[in-house]
Amino acid sequence: MSDTSTMGRRLAGLHERLTPAEQANLKLILGLSAGRLVAATEAEAAPGREAVTDALEMLCPYDVPDPRGVQYRGRPDFLTDELLASLIEESGHVGKTAVPYDEHYLGYGGPVAGRLATSRELADLVASVVPKAEATGVASYLYYRDAGQGIIPHIDTDIFSLNVLMMLAHDIPDGTPEPSALHMHYADGSKERFQLESGEVVIFLAGTQAHSRTPIRQDERVSILTFGFMPEGAPLENYKR
Ligand SMILES: [Fe+2]
Repeated sequence: MSDTSTMGRRLAGLHERLTPAEQANLKLILGLSAGRLVAATEAEAAPGREAVTDALEMLCPYDVPDPRGVQYRGRPDFLTDELLASLIEESGHVGKTAVPYDEHYLGYGGPVAGRLATSRELADLVASVVPKAEATGVASYLYYRDAGQGIIPHIDTDIFSLNVLMMLAHDIPDGTPEPSALHMHYADGSKERFQLESGEVVIFLAGTQAHSRTPIRQDERVSILTFGFMPEGAPLENYKR
């Protein structure tokens, strides 16, 4: 067993001996560390990156063959052109009062997104790739509008430990050399680029798998709808805003 795998195992072992509040703190520290380490280019970052990635994978609350990368990418059958159009329309309304953060604007889901968040169709899609995940009912519209907005590599907290991300619209100005994209970051320092079409959905374990969105450029716009899921039977208070 390598030193880094031992370190990952010891971190995961430590988690078992902590109170729930301490476990949440350890998970947060591991997530913050992973976010920093996956983006680090210096060679010294590699052992730490592997150790925290190992620990996070051992602590993954979902039983999937491989928690890395995306669990699903595609256009689900239930997402008809009509439904996509009404979600895009709703995102336009919600977007007018979305709250600005440094990295994006955030709007809470409206009735159309809310219905989908707790729908049988969405639950079935998630269950087909990640067993024993339960909808939190939380749907959020995210908007990247101002040049430079994007999200640096990170691991999400419990509320989005399983993230269903739907691309609604991506306006790309002519001549943009490399449009903004979702990236997955791996333990070996590599990354995988996902440039999603309108209506494409990805499902990934956002509480385990480090991810980012590269910054948008002037006049580039990205609108996304996300749905949170949690492990079946988990204490709901950890998964609500
Ligand atoms: Fe995230």
